[in-house]
Amino acid sequence: MSKSSFIKQFFKEKKMVGSLAPSSRFLAAKMLNHVPINEAKIVVELGPGTGVFTKKILEKMGDNTQLIVIELNDDFYNALDKKLKHPNLHLKHDSADQIGNFIHELGFEKADLIISSLPLANFPAELRNRLLLTARKFLSDQGKFVQFQYSLQSRKALKKVFHSVKLNFTALNLPPAFVYTCSK
Ligand SMILES: C[S@@+](CC[C@H](N)C(=O)[O-])C[C@H]1O[C@@H](n2cnc3c(N)ncnc32)[C@H](O)[C@@H]1O
Repeated sequence: MSKSSFIKQFFKEKKMVGSLAPSSRFLAAKMLNHVPINEAKIVVELGPGTGVFTKKILEKMGDNTQLIVIELNDDFYNALDKKLKHPNLHLKHDSADQIGNFIHELGFEKADLIISSLPLANFPAELRNRLLLTARKFLSDQGKFVQFQYSLQSRKALKKVFHSVKLNFTALNLPPAFVYTCSK
């Protein structure tokens, strides 16, 4: 899907998409370079959009890594379904709160890594907290939950749910973005 289609989705479903442009490769690096994707058995990506992070995760995955990708938006999902082919990719057209069902379908209990682009700051507090608690529930004890945001607004909510919340930042994205790496 092109940049202009991304913008179309933004205007169609502003709160769900949450940004005007796909993330930069610099943000992708900040989200993905510090976590052991190649060693993970189960990686889950929430809100792939046009697949900027998905493509990088597929490149970094080990032979035994399974990647579950959950996208709610119809057009993003359909475009990804056409574009991405990989034997260990499980693309799901659903909401992020269904994460547990998709992990169980593969015969696992928890994910080692959850990479989230969900626009948390746009969600009502109840939905944001429910999604974060669900992600925590299905994250392994040593697992990492990585989330980017354009503001520090959701920091408090993340700290309520996760024991450790580490903050990083890149100015090389439109808009500049904060990256949270959280553990249980
Ligand atoms: C800010 S965009 C990020 C897209 C892409 N990962 C990137 O960084 O360019 C947020 C994405 O989350 C998706 N999304 C929003 N709510 C969702 C939900 N409840 N479950 C799954 N995906 C959701 C949107 O459709 C959109 O693709």
